[in-house]
Amino acid sequence: MTEQTLVLIKPDGVQRGLVGEVLARIERKGLHLAALELRTVTDDVAGRHYAEHAERPFYGSLIEFITSGPLVAAVVEGPRAIAAFRQLAGGTDPVEKATPGTIRGDFALETQFNIVHGSDSPESAAREIALWFPALNS
Ligand code: RTP
Ligand code: MG
Repeated sequence: MTEQTLVLIKPDGVQRGLVGEVLARIERKGLHLAALELRTVTDDVAGRHYAEHAERPFYGSLIEFITSGPLVAAVVEGPRAIAAFRQLAGGTDPVEKATPGTIRGDFALETQFNIVHGSDSPESAAREIALWFPALNS
């Protein structure tokens, strides 16, 4: 059964010229793009996206980072797309958790600046796709 996930290529990924690299890995895995857009987000959208982290010590700098420049937002689909993209991304900490061969393991050094986001569950995917692409699936 096909599934959709919300992927972000965060401002560090765009700034470092890794958009093509990340999209190539998504496509080589066999996943497809259902939506794709370059945009710069407001504090409001960033805050709603990361609402689950509102009480965490890194929240303020995370919002500042996510709003710091253009990012790429995408809806990626395919069988088990949520888990498949999390596999491509690697663990949150790009050195301690992500392994070489993953996006974070290959291209990042710091937890905050870890290049990509991918939804972590079907509930998160539905919520995030509605937030980022309200016109899709409606
Ligand atoms: P994401 O939501 O961005 O896909 O990342 P994730 O599920 O792997 O990690 P999550 O725990 O949801 O954290 C969200 C993002 O916040 C930043 N972060 N910084 N400084 C820190 O300790 C810290 N912890 C998390 C990262 O950018 C992480 O991806
Ligand atoms: Mg997360």
